[in-house]
Order: sequence, then structure tokens, then C-alpha cells
Amino acid sequence: DKGNHRHFMEKEIYEQPEVISHALGHYVDFANHTVNAETGLIDFTGVSRLAISACGTAYLAGLVGKYWFERYARLPVEIDVASEFRYREMPLSPDQAALFISQSGETADTLASLRYCKENGLKIGAVVNVKESTIARESDAVFPILAGPEIGVASTKAFTCQLTVLASLAIAAGRARGTITEAEEKELVRHLTEVPRIMSAVLNSIQGQIEQLSRDLSKVKDVLYIGRGTSFPLAMEGALKLKEISYIHAEGYAAGELKHGPIALIDENMPVIVIAPHDRFFEKTVSNMQEVAARGGKIIFITDAKGAAASNLPTMATIVLPEVDELIAPMVFSLPIQLLAYHTAVFMGTDVDQPRNLAKSVTVE
Ligand code: M6R
Repeated sequence: DKGNHRHFMEKEIYEQPEVISHALGHYVDFANHTVNAETGLIDFTGVSRLAISACGTAYLAGLVGKYWFERYARLPVEIDVASEFRYREMPLSPDQAALFISQSGETADTLASLRYCKENGLKIGAVVNVKESTIARESDAVFPILAGPEIGVASTKAFTCQLTVLASLAIAAGRARGTITEAEEKELVRHLTEVPRIMSAVLNSIQGQIEQLSRDLSKVKDVLYIGRGTSFPLAMEGALKLKEISYIHAEGYAAGELKHGPIALIDENMPVIVIAPHDRFFEKTVSNMQEVAARGGKIIFITDAKGAAASNLPTMATIVLPEVDELIAPMVFSLPIQLLAYHTAVFMGTDVDQPRNLAKSVTVE
């Protein structure tokens, strides 16, 4: 049932504040602002390295998770798309742990990667939406993302629920390993618990602007997304979402890679979507944006109020989100990239929930 939405994808985008609340309810102690025992099913204390493997959007959630585990838990993370992971003969030892992220819990390559890690004696955790899935069954610890059924082929609420669970696990790992203090844990958890409220406000405020912008975007052939830090995986997620449902060619790049190749593509016909909250990387990303502007590129600037005030470069549009802590920026900044892809596809008249050539669950290699 789509409710009063035109597509499941739209419904699922708007469900995010609610389902993230459910996920938080499962992993967070709201009264004490700590993560709870559910996050402790894997003991990260003596773990030397964490391997993460997944496909598509789940892989990109894992890539955001890598930044968090390394920053907050000082835990080195190896991450690969599962189709590579399963064959690349990565040396593994039992003092390592592995996480597999999958909405369906049935993705063939992710399952094969899991089995490879199991054979090597690793402790296995599964971040899944479908709790009765094969990946969940074969894991030592199951971390449900509690997103509810996701019908749209393009993953939206599963992505932000995966992020919510990974953030909780990274905080738990940080506490277990003594790399964040109790006060820091409380601070981070406090930010996490604000996500549903902030997301609701953003969903209400950006809708009109995004719809307008999508009309222009539906006329272009190529789009480039750039970002730094966790906005880099988000840039790739934005590009994946757009190409998947609107069939517009899109690429996501680390902003610093621009001058190593993709800048050659820039002209007035290719919009560049710059994802840049006012964080540690902001100045660097703005200097990349400058390079785009200098070559006549059209910029869609997704930032916060502080970021918007700090740059005076001409843009095709500036989407202003609330200023939030770096930990939760990936969840909040997911909204404009999801809505932009959605409305662009609607303008183009594609089959949004059932895009051509794609299946919701990829159970063959
Ligand atoms: O069920 P999974 O999370 O394992 O699926 C992984 C990918 O197939 C999936 O995320 C795909 O990339 C989505 N269609 C992206 O929107």
C-alpha cells in the first residue's frame, strides 16, 4: 500500500524518520544516551581488523561505516564490493571480524563473501533488513536494521537505517576499545537520537525546491557528484540512485580526484552536485567547486547554513540543510540526493519502483 504517495520509493523516503526511530529504539538507551547491549553481540575489544563486504547501496553504507569505525573506534576497516571480496583471496585471521550488509539478506556475492570469512574462522556480523534471510541465519550476530519492507528497487530507507545501525556499532566499538570516553559516547548518541526529528524537518522544507530543480536535471545527459569524507560515499550513492531510476549517466567522485581526470568532462552541460556540509573538509571541497565554476560548470550545492554563507560562488541551486554533527550528516544529506533522483525520474516518466533491467534482490552471481 503506497498510502497517499505515487510510488513506494516516495513513501519509503518519507518513512525514514519513523523507521530510524525504530532502529534507534533497538540499539540506543534513550534515557542514558548510551548504546545498549544489542550493539555488543560482537566484542570488538581485541579485534585487529574489520572486513566489510556488501553490494550496491549496502556497500556504500559500509563505506560510510568505514570512516566511523576508523575514526571513533580506531579499528582498521577493509571494505570491498562482495563480487570482488569473494575472489580476491584476502588474507584473514581469526582475530579479525567481518560485517556483511544486505537489505534482502539474500545477495549471492555477499553470501559467498560471508562463507569465505566463516571458513577462515572470523566472527561474523550481519546488518540485514530481512531477519529470516540466509545471510542472517549463517551469521554469529544479527543486527536488524528494522526498516520494514522496502518495495522500491532503489534502496532509500534501508540505506539510512543501515547507517544508523553502523553508527551505533562504531560507537559501541569505540567504547569497548577505549577510544572514546563515556562523555563522548553520550554526545554522539545524543546526535544520533536527533536524526528522526531533523529528517522530518528537512523533508518538509526541501520538497518544493527539489521538485523545481529536478525539472532542469531531467534534461541533462550526465551528472557528476563530488564530496569528501563521508560525503564521498554519499556522492557515489547519489550517482547510483540517479542512474538507477532516471537512466541519466552519473558518477560519484571523491572531490580531491576531480583534477585527476573527471575535470576534463566539465562544461556548461554537465551539472556538478557538490555535497559539502560545513565540516573539516569544507574549505577543500569549496576549492574543488571553484575549479568547476572556473570551467563554466553548473553547480548544485548541497550544504548547510554556515556553508552557504561561507561561499559566494554562483550556483544553479543551493540546497541548505540544518547544521548537524559530522556523525549524522550522511543520514541528513541522504534526503536531498534521494529526492533529487526520485523527482527527476518522475519528470522523465520512468518506472520508478521497477526500473528496467533491475531486480530488488540479486540472488545469482
Ligand atoms: O539486498 P542487498 O542490500 O544485498 O542488495 C544490494 C544491492 O543490490 C542494492 O543495494 C542495489 O544496489 C539497490 N538497487 C540500490 O538502490
